[in-house]
Amino acid sequence: MVAARITVNGKETPISPAAPHTTALDFLRERGLTGTKEGCAEGECGACSVLVARPGVNKPTDWVAVNACLVPVAALDGQEVITSEGLATAGESGRPAALHPVQEEMAVRGGSQCGYCTPGFICSMASEYYRPDRCAHPDTADDTGATTGSGSGTGSGSGSGSEHGPNGFDLHALSGNLCRCTGYRPIRDAAFAVGTPTENDPMAQRREQSPPEPVATEYTRDGSAFLRPSTLADALRLLRERPDAVVVAGSTDWGVEVNIRSRRANCVVAVDRLPELRELRVESDHIEIGAAQTLTEIERRLDGSVPLLAELFPQFASRLIRNSATLGGNLGTGSPIGDSPPVLLALEASVVLADADGEREVPLSDYFTGYRQSVRRPGELIRAVRIPLPLSPVAAFHKIAKRRFDDISSVAVAFALDIEDGIVRKARIGLGGVAATPIRALDTEAALEGEPWAAETVEAAARVLRAQGTPMDDHRASAGYRSAMLGQSLLKLYAQTTEAGSS
Ligand code: FES
Ligand code: FES
Repeated sequence: MVAARITVNGKETPISPAAPHTTALDFLRERGLTGTKEGCAEGECGACSVLVARPGVNKPTDWVAVNACLVPVAALDGQEVITSEGLATAGESGRPAALHPVQEEMAVRGGSQCGYCTPGFICSMASEYYRPDRCAHPDTADDTGATTGSGSGTGSGSGSGSEHGPNGFDLHALSGNLCRCTGYRPIRDAAFAVGTPTENDPMAQRREQSPPEPVATEYTRDGSAFLRPSTLADALRLLRERPDAVVVAGSTDWGVEVNIRSRRANCVVAVDRLPELRELRVESDHIEIGAAQTLTEIERRLDGSVPLLAELFPQFASRLIRNSATLGGNLGTGSPIGDSPPVLLALEASVVLADADGEREVPLSDYFTGYRQSVRRPGELIRAVRIPLPLSPVAAFHKIAKRRFDDISSVAVAFALDIEDGIVRKARIGLGGVAATPIRALDTEAALEGEPWAAETVEAAARVLRAQGTPMDDHRASAGYRSAMLGQSLLKLYAQTTEAGSS
């Protein structure tokens, strides 16, 4: 097996002697690439953002910005990385001959003061600069409200018109980057001023070539290992042999455990590039989403065709996190406040679990068994998520959190309703943050089904919804607030649908 190595700013660099848990951020900084900064080490500030060449959605390769503080450098074996230092055109004696266009705009528009956050902003901005369909969505609108009808969604660039520049730049690309001294207006000015890459731009040209293939990795040091099997069969065999293994895809959860809680694993198994977990298929009666598709890939591939997911994605952490996070990971951690379970419960999704003996399909409503527990057995892997078709035409996702974006929910509610001739024929409601597991609001569903979609019945159902789950008091919200928000959520949906109908 070839020694693990990554290509950083065009130069091949061996990963050894880094430990298997060493982050890409520490690895880069130890090699003098100190433009990549550490602010939080938990994926919340974006100071560590770098670009990785990944399989593209509309081109063979996309330049994807990721949090280098979360990804183990061993996970980048065989991959290509560009840091802020690698964006400028190289000159003599290591000095840049010319700034990259996004660096130039940030400089001339005063987008940087102390400069600590700037390299991270530059990398996130460069990723959006190279997004192939950026200029195809200059005025995309998004009201993040209830959706009626099953067709249109937010498109690949979610956000309101004011969040898109005349150049199509989607400000959500910067939602994972924090600046504490410049203020965001000059940064936004710079983002909205960048042009399009020229034909001889090497990074634009690189998009036309295939991305680096995933590399089977066996990186071991001092008794711990980072392993990347190349096939699903190999992965399942490995998981049977090593039930102690930690399975990672985007590492957005495990990276926090490593950095903040100093957790270490004897064996980490990466599954994010397994072809069997990377498919997205639309069949006549269901959509199957590979568990290792990143949320950004799903968002861009579905392009609004599942409106409830299109509402979820902009509210599911920052673009930097969504560039790495997966549905498999969000379900695998089993968190009661994960953002995807309420939506997937409302969509009546099921999970496809695979082990060395075969596969089984489990309805998501039967998947969670307790706090961070599920029916997934040791040695089993989530291979895919299936969403049955057709979709219910009335759908909404309400995430109640302290900030509009990039926050953990206090309560999350997802609705999927079939309303025909003013009668609720079917209601599916998923809840997060009100019990030890994500749950379906079964009593509320029963209170709505067969009833008129009218103020009186909705108010009665909202009273039922307020009593669903067993919400707790904690530092995010009180139990009373959580209950109140459940009821409000249904009333809000009713107001949205009736306003939509009357407009
Ligand atoms: Fe803050 Fe990585 S250091 S997101
Ligand atoms: Fe100082 Fe952004 S320029 S934190």
